[in-house]
Amino acid sequence: MKVLRLVIVGYGNIGRGLVETLAEKRSSLKKGGLDVKVVAVCEYSGCIVDESGVDLKRLLKEKPRWGKRKTLDVINEVDADIVVELTPGDIKSGEPGLKHIRAALESGKHVVTSNKSPLVVAYGELVKLAEDNGVMLKFEATVGGAIPVLNTLDRELKSNKARNVYGILNGTTNFILTKMLEEGVDFKAALLEAQTLGLAETDPTYDIEGIDSAAKVVILANSLGMDVKFKDLKVVGITGVTPEAVDLAKEHGYTIKLVGDIAAKEVSPRLVPLDHPLNVGGSLNAVLVDTDVAGEITLIGAGAGPRETSSAIMSDINAIAEKT
Ligand code: HSE
Repeated sequence: MKVLRLVIVGYGNIGRGLVETLAEKRSSLKKGGLDVKVVAVCEYSGCIVDESGVDLKRLLKEKPRWGKRKTLDVINEVDADIVVELTPGDIKSGEPGLKHIRAALESGKHVVTSNKSPLVVAYGELVKLAEDNGVMLKFEATVGGAIPVLNTLDRELKSNKARNVYGILNGTTNFILTKMLEEGVDFKAALLEAQTLGLAETDPTYDIEGIDSAAKVVILANSLGMDVKFKDLKVVGITGVTPEAVDLAKEHGYTIKLVGDIAAKEVSPRLVPLDHPLNVGGSLNAVLVDTDVAGEITLIGAGAGPRETSSAIMSDINAIAEKT
């Protein structure tokens, strides 16, 4: 039986979602020969450490009793294979996730993350740090929620050249626009619902101002070998999209979607024909990959949500298990 010891950093919506999935899938993973053992869970208030394995069901049921050990000390000192970094990040500094990821890679641990900000701030540095330390840095969950966008581009479409990748990269704004279009719900109420469902970022202006989509464009572009920085992008969010504009678009056979476009280096609300593959509703994301050999492929799926995002995190954990 292969054993993978995990340190989970960040126990908000996404962290809890992952712990729920790990608890649910523990026996089926074991049947497949993989014992995923969580040896520490850290939050800003402290860490729970148990090198024989944290009791996940108990963690989910009871109010966690955070111990005094600091996250960085736990990352450096606890015997673990993977640090799963799931904190919310500041888009300008990349912190606190950046220092967690640096410490994990420098101490020879693989990293799996859903945290976009450290990659936006220091993509090249972190990829190199992982290479120099002989470990993997995996971040499928940073783009498109549950949709395997990065792994599809990296593996299944490896012999293709991607001419462009564009689409709906943010679940919260798609949820809001769909509610406005289909139910006439006002902007604020729709945003509140997205927050309640755990779709929105800790700071929801990241969603509605297009910052979250732009972060995903940066990560996608860099993963395709382009050197694109956040400041290179033109970013317009959806706060200027009025119910009147949404209705008018519909009358003319269009819908309004917040689209991130790698080739155009842009995030902006665009008119999308109602019968176009990118016209998906709710919190779905739709990513259109335009390649030289395969042609166009559209990937559609849950773009946000704690449970759905845990699927992408698990795929990275499984990939590390396969390669180690
Ligand atoms: N807030 C993000 C979204 C979460 O709504 O898409 C997934 O990155």
